[in-house]
Amino acid sequence: MAAERTFAMLKPGVLSRRVVGEIISKIERKGFKIIGLKMMNVTIELAERQYAEHKGKSFYLDLLEYIVSGPVVVMVLEADQAIKLFRLLCGSTSPEQALPGTIRGDYAMHTSINIIHASDSKESAVREIDLFFRPEELIDWEDGNQKWI
Ligand code: CMP
Repeated sequence: MAAERTFAMLKPGVLSRRVVGEIISKIERKGFKIIGLKMMNVTIELAERQYAEHKGKSFYLDLLEYIVSGPVVVMVLEADQAIKLFRLLCGSTSPEQALPGTIRGDYAMHTSINIIHASDSKESAVREIDLFFRPEELIDWEDGNQKWI
């Protein structure tokens, strides 16, 4: 099966809580190959582009305020069925429904600050990767452990 790429963001607050390493560990342990990784501040313009589909919804302005409120860690992950498997690992958007063992199930209490973003479709993944990463920031390294993943 051809490897698929997905976009991940550890949202504001994760750095403050000092759990970036723990969350990345969960992602690595599952078997995702990290091909892009950086820390950044999201500008309001970038946040508006990322969440354009939510414009007009009741939570839209709070969502923008949250995303620009502190530094984030963004990643591009590669795996067979990366989009579906990464969303499973993150758990439900609503932490009330996210199962224990998932990232939101273990680290989040409220939908409005649900700590992690995962692309929801191939189209979103392509769009979000393109929004947050330049092509030269993605490193398609040789993975000697691939047969065990
Ligand atoms: P994310 O996966 O980044 O995609 C859209 C975000 O909007 C979502 O995570 C939440 O942070 C936020 N969101 C979605 N639904 C709600 C809601 N009902 N109330 C508050 N925030 C929401």
